[in-house]
Amino acid sequence: MKKTKKSGKNWKKFWKLGADEFNTQFFGVSKDGELTAIEGNHIYNINDLAHKYGTPLQIIFPFVLEDRLKDLLGYFQAYIKIYNYKGKFFYHYPMKVNQNKEFILPLLSEGANLEVTSGNELWIVKKLWEGEKFNSKIRVLCNGPKTDQYLDLIEELRAKGMTIVPIIESLDEIERLSKYKGDIGIRVDLSIKADTHWDKKFDRFGIPEKDVFDLPKMKNLKVMHYHMGSQIKTQKSILEAVKHGFGIYTQLQKIHPNLDTLDIGGGFGILHEKKKFYTAKVVSSNIIKLLKNLSDKAGIKHPNLIVEWGWYIVDPAQITIYKVISEKSIPKANAKAWYIIDGSFINDLKDTWTIHQKWHTIPVNNMQGSLKTVWLAGSTCDSDDKYTAGGNYILLPKLHEGQDQLIALLDNGAYQDSLSSHHCLLSAPMKIVVKDGTITVARKRESPDSIGKLFGWTNGDH
Ligand SMILES: Cc1ncc(COP(=O)(O)O)c(C=O)c1O
Repeated sequence: MKKTKKSGKNWKKFWKLGADEFNTQFFGVSKDGELTAIEGNHIYNINDLAHKYGTPLQIIFPFVLEDRLKDLLGYFQAYIKIYNYKGKFFYHYPMKVNQNKEFILPLLSEGANLEVTSGNELWIVKKLWEGEKFNSKIRVLCNGPKTDQYLDLIEELRAKGMTIVPIIESLDEIERLSKYKGDIGIRVDLSIKADTHWDKKFDRFGIPEKDVFDLPKMKNLKVMHYHMGSQIKTQKSILEAVKHGFGIYTQLQKIHPNLDTLDIGGGFGILHEKKKFYTAKVVSSNIIKLLKNLSDKAGIKHPNLIVEWGWYIVDPAQITIYKVISEKSIPKANAKAWYIIDGSFINDLKDTWTIHQKWHTIPVNNMQGSLKTVWLAGSTCDSDDKYTAGGNYILLPKLHEGQDQLIALLDNGAYQDSLSSHHCLLSAPMKIVVKDGTITVARKRESPDSIGKLFGWTNGDH
């Protein structure tokens, strides 16, 4: 255990804040040892916000989304110019990553196109479109298995003028989609594997490579899509998939002459452990360079390129704050004590439980205090409701009588919300949005009544 009460210590560095390579460039530490977030000229004191709104609390930073997307579009546009690449670049935001309004609207206004995976996601897109939240220049890709209801909605929106491209997910969809009156795409299940937890030995997504060349000529086939899985661990894996995917693309183009776009899906990783990792700047440069060289060699037009990197764009835009409500010592372990929090990992940050996600965990106050090795436990009755940093420990300040200790888990804008649940009927964290110096409440704290309603307990029943 470290004794860290040295004056003059660089606490910002110690907590890995204010660093581009860790996606924490907008966080700092106040002179009183409290966590701050900086948006241009606005400095938000996270400890004050948590005291004002209460915990558990989730804070959304739309400016982080905007900055990240702006940078990503800028990288691709710059390398397209530098390498004299003739294809166009499109970013499609995969809605599944975070369907909250507070995420989607800023991304649309920053120039994102969309990708959806279900009829229900598409229904939200329809409402957005009808409310003129985006125009017909924005293209919507429709992935996932298509129910009749999903296909009906796709056809309805195309007929009304939306630029909407269904992606064939399986052979059963071919009959209906080959008659579709707009552009279509096809998802190919590449025969190579990427370095990611999600690229399973036996995959079920898309059409296997061995079947994809037997399909009849489709004049409206414009997009070839693949997705290797999320959180790809190495740049090498991303580039190998591009190279392999390009090989399939060139062969498919011979059968379907209007094919002109390669969609390389999502998968760009965010490393919560805060070690050195590949960067979007370098990877975007290498993708464009690779596609240019491959197409020039093959003597074909440079394909238009789509990326659907969701996790990368949205993860750093939300943090979760909990209060430590009690401490229990652990006799013999890597950590000295449990800190019990006023929320739940199983409910609010589900990846802690399902994929043993590591979180960048830092104090919100008392950031300069002396430290202790701890494990964190949620407030449900489940013994798996815990976060131990993989059986290691988390370094957090010692508790002091009469003083609340708040903690923040960073980088939870991706996937956690739609996976969240209500074990033991705990309330989900309240959500606030921090933008342009103002704070708005996006989701009120759930009351016992509102949670009861989710389980059928309407007024008068009990
Ligand atoms: C087809 C498709 N595109 C994009 C994504 C987003 O992936 P990520 O968030 O890892 O970038 C996913 C995630 O499952 C996906 O299935």
